Amino acid sequence: MTQPDPPSPASMFENRLRKNLALRLKWAKRKQVSCYRVYERDIPEVPLTVDRYEDRVCVSERSRPNTDAMSDEAHDAWRAAMTQAVCAVMSVEPEAVYWKERERQRGATQYARRDRSDDRFVVTEGGREFFVNLKDYLDTGLFLDHRPLRGHVGETSAGKRFLNLFCYTGAFTVYAATGGASSSTSVDLNPNYLGWARDNLELNRQDISKHRLVQGDVLSFLSSFDRRIEAPYDLVMVDPPTFSNSKRTPNVFDVQRDHLELLGRVFDRLAPKGVVYFSTNFRPFRFETAALMRRCGPVVLEELSTWTVPEDFRDRRIHRAWRLTRKEPA
Ligand SMILES: C[S@@+](CC[C@H](N)C(=O)[O-])C[C@H]1O[C@@H](n2cnc3c(N)ncnc32)[C@H](O)[C@@H]1O
Repeated sequence: MTQPDPPSPASMFENRLRKNLALRLKWAKRKQVSCYRVYERDIPEVPLTVDRYEDRVCVSERSRPNTDAMSDEAHDAWRAAMTQAVCAVMSVEPEAVYWKERERQRGATQYARRDRSDDRFVVTEGGREFFVNLKDYLDTGLFLDHRPLRGHVGETSAGKRFLNLFCYTGAFTVYAATGGASSSTSVDLNPNYLGWARDNLELNRQDISKHRLVQGDVLSFLSSFDRRIEAPYDLVMVDPPTFSNSKRTPNVFDVQRDHLELLGRVFDRLAPKGVVYFSTNFRPFRFETAALMRRCGPVVLEELSTWTVPEDFRDRRIHRAWRLTRKEPA
C-alpha cells in the first residue's frame, strides 16, 4: 500500500492561516482593530509573519533556513505559492501582498529607505489615522506590537506635556495629541520620519504649533535642557533602537550600554509626578537598577510587558516595556 503524500508547506500554511484568521476576525471585530498579525512562524517550514493592514497584507521573511538551499527560481516559486495561499485565505489580490525580506540588520541600514514608490495609504487604529508604507522601508510606519501601549498613552495624556524620544513616525505622539496632551515634543534623527510624523499629526487634524518636532540625536537633545526656560515633561515615551550608528550623528547608541545615561537625562527633564514608559526589543536587556537609583533617586520600576504585548503576537517577548516613576516619600 502506498503512503499518501505528506501535505505540502503551502497547504499547511494555507490551513493554518485560515484557522488563525477565523479566530482573529472575531477578536478584531470585538476590539475594533483593523491592522493585526495573522501568522507568526507558526509552522517551522514556513518562517513567515503575515500582518494585515486593512485591505493589504505585509509578509515578512525573516530567517530562511529552509529556503537557503533553494535556487532563486525555486524560491520564487515558493513565494508565489505562499502569496497564492495568502490571497485565497485573506481575499486579496496578489498586488495587495507586499513582501519584506528581513536580513539581520544593525545600525543605519535598518531605517534606510529601500525604495521610492511613495506608495503610502491611510489606516485607522484606535479612532486615529496613520500613513503606512508597505513598500519603501523595512518597517511599515506603524509598529503593531505597540498598539496597547499607544492606547494607554492616549488615555492618560490629557493636559500633559508629552515627550516622545526616538519617535519614528510619531504614532505615540498622535495618540497623546488626540488624547488631549497640552503640548508635545518628538525627537528623531531621521528627517524623513519627522516629516511622516508631521503628516500623521495633520492627518489627525492636530494644531501643529503645539507639537514640536526635533531632528537630532536624543542624548544631545536631552543634555541641552535649560530648566529656567523649559517646563519639565509629565509623560515620556522612550522606545530606542537596540543599536544605532547613523552618519547623522557622531554618537553611537547602544541600548544596554546607554540606558542609564539616557534615563538619567530623561529624569532630569521629568516633572515631580511624571511618568516614563521605556520599551526595548533587545531580548537580553538588563536594567542596571542600583545604578539607576543612584543616578535618578528612588524610582519605582514596573514591568508592563504582559499587557503591552498584544494578543495577536505569538512571540510574547517581541518587546519588553516598563513604567518608571519617582518613588513618593513615605
Ligand atoms: C524603534 S524605532 C522607534 C519606534 C517608535 N517609538 C514607534 O513606536 O513608532 C527607532 C527610531 O529611532 C531613531 N533613532 C536611531 N538612533 C537615534 C538617535 N541617536 N537619536 C534619535 N533618534 C534615533 C530611528 O530613526 C527610528 O525612527
